[in-house]
Amino acid sequence: MKALTQPELLEWLHESRPSRLQLLYGWADRVRKEWVGDAVHLRGLIEISSHCARQCMYCGLRAANKQLTRYRMEREEILNCALEAEQLGYGTVVMQAGEDGEIKADWMAEIVHWIKRETRLAVTLSLGERSQDEFKMWRQAGADRYLLRFETSDKKLFRAIHPSRYEVGSDRIELLRTLKALGYEAGGGVMVGIPGQTFESLAGDILTFRTLNLDMIGIGPFIPHAGTPLGSGALKPLIENGEQAPNSEEMVYKMIALTRITCPEANIPSTTALATINRTEGRKLGLKAGANVVMPNLTPMKYRSLYEIYPAKACIEESASDCNQCLRGQIHSLGRFAGRGEGGRGTVEVPLLSRVEAGLQLVQLAQ
Ligand code: 5AD
Ligand code: FES
Repeated sequence: MKALTQPELLEWLHESRPSRLQLLYGWADRVRKEWVGDAVHLRGLIEISSHCARQCMYCGLRAANKQLTRYRMEREEILNCALEAEQLGYGTVVMQAGEDGEIKADWMAEIVHWIKRETRLAVTLSLGERSQDEFKMWRQAGADRYLLRFETSDKKLFRAIHPSRYEVGSDRIELLRTLKALGYEAGGGVMVGIPGQTFESLAGDILTFRTLNLDMIGIGPFIPHAGTPLGSGALKPLIENGEQAPNSEEMVYKMIALTRITCPEANIPSTTALATINRTEGRKLGLKAGANVVMPNLTPMKYRSLYEIYPAKACIEESASDCNQCLRGQIHSLGRFAGRGEGGRGTVEVPLLSRVEAGLQLVQLAQ
């Protein structure tokens, strides 16, 4: 496949004519169908802790946000959510948290191990920047995937919005390489329309996805959170060259489509942030522009509103089974089907019906 060049990416990112955009989304949709098929994988999200030691300038979980009541789920609660994921027919659980030092490596490893032993679920972790030893221990316990968005490939902007905990600044791109080397499927991703983010840096993000050969790529709009420096306008990173990229829906669809075309094999979610800025159509439009994954929320209701990364998050009030039904309905309305397996990179599932048909054909051939 011919990769899009930086100038071509830029041209598409600036495109606003509806007819051209329909062409782009149609192209991405064909690439999606050819490379990862019509299955939409459901990944059940468990937000296991809202404690966070970091001060990311955009995120509602940042340590300085004292407005937030913090929680950490008990082991039993997490295991029950995992069992529910299996009952609902999901292939994966994603355990996500802020960078919480009280999530101890061996405690987490035991939970991963239990889920791998007692269920058929793939296990994805998304627990922030942790040490290589911790990544290794969790991998040995059976974790299959790790998500760590690098948020922007623009080093200067990254530094401006991620005050470091350590003397040396963090390098999430390097951590993603480490995760891959440990045998994880590695997921990166970015926010679109961060104050200080240019069109050029978005094009750079897509080229970085490809260079890293990421297995999963999450893309969502930046949503201002008033309790954070970037959301309140207290911090305005300066743009030296280029033009501020908007945090619009359209910009996100363009990024998803261009990412699908550039990284055809990747698993790409239609994100909750996208559903937040367009409740009724956001997820579906993402799925039509190249995405092939959705992440229904499994977090117990009493914790839902406390995991406030950004305000007015979609699906805060819907139970796990409501989201399950809602998403399956959306998937079917697009003429697609819900994946039944783990849905790792490179798996192309066929719908159940066509498996039955294939089986019948084999029987007929044998007769
Ligand atoms: N708007 C949109 N997305 C956000 N995230 C964090 N804060 C915001 C925000 N204000 C995203 C980041 C992070 C993921 C868990 O949530 O990309 O990696
Ligand atoms: Fe949660 Fe539709 S996905 S209500």
